[in-house]
Amino acid sequence: PRVLVLNGPNLGRLGRRQPEIYGATTHAELADLCVGWGADLGLDVEVRQTNHEGELLDWLNTAADDATPVVLNAAAWTHYSYALFDACAQLTAPLVEVHISEPLQRPEEFRHTSVVTPHAVEVIAGQGVAGYRAALAALAARG
Ligand code: DQA
Repeated sequence: PRVLVLNGPNLGRLGRRQPEIYGATTHAELADLCVGWGADLGLDVEVRQTNHEGELLDWLNTAADDATPVVLNAAAWTHYSYALFDACAQLTAPLVEVHISEPLQRPEEFRHTSVVTPHAVEVIAGQGVAGYRAALAALAARG
């Protein structure tokens, strides 16, 4: 089965962006890890990253049409995008929300809300990039 891993804004700079918070793994390395973890779980994983909200919405709309399961780290859009809320609401296959850090434990109040969580079968946060493996395992377990 096919799974999409979709990463939102600024995650393209993983490894260089605030490594004390997000770690040293680059986005390219994360993508390779996800493909390998997926293969071990029998999943055909495709990883994408965008800094453009409309592009993410287009990907989610296609995932809804195709009933493709999604692992989503929508980064800052998580916290305020009602277009993202609506895009996630219409998904037809399971959605797992991932964050590398634990937004609920961070000092900025804006990180304490998520428009994705109401639509997610699971939220995995604060596990670093290993959270993506947990998210793929959760989808694999659902079949
Ligand atoms: C993040 C947490 C968000 O609050 C933040 O805006 C990000 C990354 C995470 O993976 O920890 O860009 O989604």
